[in-house]
Amino acid sequence: MGLTVEFRGRRSLFKPESVVQAVSNVDLTIEQGETLAVVGESGCGKSTLGRALLRSTPIAHGRVEFKGRDITRLSGRALRDARSQFQMIFQDPYASLNPKMSIYETLAEPLLVHGATDRASIRPQVLDMLSAAGLDPSFAERYPHEFSGGQRQRVAIARAAILRPDFIVCDEPLSALDVSLQLQILKLFTALKQQFSLTYLFISHDLARVFGFADRIAVMYLGKIVEIGTAADLYRAPAHPYTRALIAAAPSPNPHRDIPPAAATLRGDIPSPANPPKGCRFHTRCPQVMDVCKTREPTMSDLGNGQRAACHLLTQPPMAG
Ligand SMILES: Nc1ncnc2c1ncn2[C@@H]1O[C@H](COP(=O)(O)OP(=O)(O)OP(=O)(O)O)[C@@H](O)[C@H]1O
Ligand SMILES: [Mg+2]
Repeated sequence: MGLTVEFRGRRSLFKPESVVQAVSNVDLTIEQGETLAVVGESGCGKSTLGRALLRSTPIAHGRVEFKGRDITRLSGRALRDARSQFQMIFQDPYASLNPKMSIYETLAEPLLVHGATDRASIRPQVLDMLSAAGLDPSFAERYPHEFSGGQRQRVAIARAAILRPDFIVCDEPLSALDVSLQLQILKLFTALKQQFSLTYLFISHDLARVFGFADRIAVMYLGKIVEIGTAADLYRAPAHPYTRALIAAAPSPNPHRDIPPAAATLRGDIPSPANPPKGCRFHTRCPQVMDVCKTREPTMSDLGNGQRAACHLLTQPPMAG
């Protein structure tokens, strides 16, 4: 709630200290068992939001609750215990796997770190997890370099799931894979979610890719959530001009032929998050910008069915004609 993460730039004689609000006053509730996708262009704060929710980056303001418990100020042992219920999966499985550890050791390690003492009971757990992740248990003694990118991502996912976490942040886990592998890994995420009752925050820069996979989608722009709703509602009726622009820019077949391309094309570059535009942060690139957008920040409008968007068009539509 009201979550803000700031990074301070180095101060020098000639340069005042700069503060980047990578995540700015975000309110977000993730329901147990759901897949919430977070989408937006590079640098909009997706990874920082994911890390803040897992308490792996300092929080400047606001609060993070997990299962009704405030975890914002936990530290030391209490934080370590809480963290065993969270996991994170990254884009590049090779970087997140230790090349010197066999697949068996890779999966056994989290169990041992979190208190498993009975080595005999670990083995079946590891082998079961490998099969659940679509890997042949006979691969257990091999090393990460012996696998393809897709198989390595399966290993990373198996390692994340083996502690039976409640909540997994998946940070662009498909970006390094080609399209056919992306679909296979998405299937694996779905299967594991059902098998282990997982909850996902699924970070992606590709809105089209998450429509069929996520329950809800949050669209971020320069540290803020500009629109959130069910995947079906955002697909059918995107309310924010930025969401529309992302859809229009998607390479896959465009479901929104009724949005005139000219009204949906993103102009210009993303402004610096250290110095975000006044008013609506999106106004410098918005195809439907109005005067009010340059001075006043829009608040979230409730569009029904949990869909919300922050845009002045929703509260003061421009006059017709
Ligand atoms: N450790 C850090 N120190 C300083 N600034 C940071 C740090 N991490 C992120 N930032 C800044 O915070 C902003 C948000 O970054 P973040 O990595 O969360 O974006 P992202 O949406 O995940 O981008 P990408 O799609 O490229 O992964 C960026 O402006 C980035 O430069
Ligand atoms: Mg990122």
